[in-house]
Amino acid sequence: MSDIPDFQDLFRLDGKVALITGGSRGLGLHTATAFLYAGAKKVILTSRKSGGTYGLNQAVERLNKLPNIKGRALAIPADISKTEEIQRLVKEVQKTESKLDILVANAGAAWGGPFDTTPDASTVKVLDLNVRSIFNLIRIFTPLLEAAGTLSDPARVVIVSSTAGSHVPHVGEHGTIVYSASKAAADHLARNIAVELGPRHITTNSVAPGFFPSKLANGLIESLGGLEGLERENPRRRLGVASDMAGVMVFLCSRGAAWINGATIPVDGGGRLTAGRLSKL
Ligand SMILES: NC(=O)c1ccc[n+]([C@@H]2O[C@H](COP(=O)([O-])OP(=O)(O)OC[C@H]3O[C@@H](n4cnc5c(N)ncnc54)[C@H](OP(=O)(O)O)[C@@H]3O)[C@@H](O)[C@H]2O)c1
Repeated sequence: MSDIPDFQDLFRLDGKVALITGGSRGLGLHTATAFLYAGAKKVILTSRKSGGTYGLNQAVERLNKLPNIKGRALAIPADISKTEEIQRLVKEVQKTESKLDILVANAGAAWGGPFDTTPDASTVKVLDLNVRSIFNLIRIFTPLLEAAGTLSDPARVVIVSSTAGSHVPHVGEHGTIVYSASKAAADHLARNIAVELGPRHITTNSVAPGFFPSKLANGLIESLGGLEGLERENPRRRLGVASDMAGVMVFLCSRGAAWINGATIPVDGGGRLTAGRLSKL
């Protein structure tokens, strides 16, 4: 007989406190929903905008109405591309929490367009948010994560990168070269930080999504010919849905993934393995 204590809780997040950047919509909101369903005690969302269709307030209101949840969602607006805003965010969290079990670095920016005329401001924005801010976010939250982690159940950092970090998805008219390089850097941050923080009982992994309809992805989906064509090209004949994100994020943050450290998990139906659009350029 194998010794697997409390198997019924192996994939649960009961009692956990999580912070999700970019939690107001898209993949961050899917993650927040999943964490609450998995039993998390508190899910803190952060992004820049509070009001409006895509702001934090509507997300918190919808999350707190989910059926059969024990925890609650709350929002702290912050622009995490600014280091002083991350420092303020930590102080806000510390007003009610002495430790943080889960940090999801999900907020990101994309830019697509032709190579020769790429505005320099777009490269600064993408690299700043997708790489530098993730490094600073994890660095500045480390004391709170360290306070939560134990040898058997470490605190978790999950970076949301992209399959664009492991292949060359789009060049030419809708090229995403700097975005793609930023996501490769995000995966490599995860590997480096996994080794740095592992001894402090914090694991760091990245999740690399393929196409999920969202505010960030919809423009590119349209310019590549729309949903149907992209669905046809994917080996699973569809794009990502909320439960795809839920499964991998809950797994990585559960006790079941306590010994997974420095891994990148693609969540893309196998799409990264196909030649895709490149063959048509
Ligand atoms: N959807 C996809 O197909 C796909 C595929 C691969 C990877 N990804 C990655 O998944 C992550 C989430 O993307 P998504 O598709 O869910 O996009 P989304 O729906 O546009 O959401 C982006 C989130 O990030 C927040 N955000 C943007 N800039 C921020 C800043 N400076 N400070 C704090 N929050 C900021 C946004 O809120 P505010 O605008 O209010 O700040 C929003 O909550 C990104 O890292 C993206 O690269 C997405």
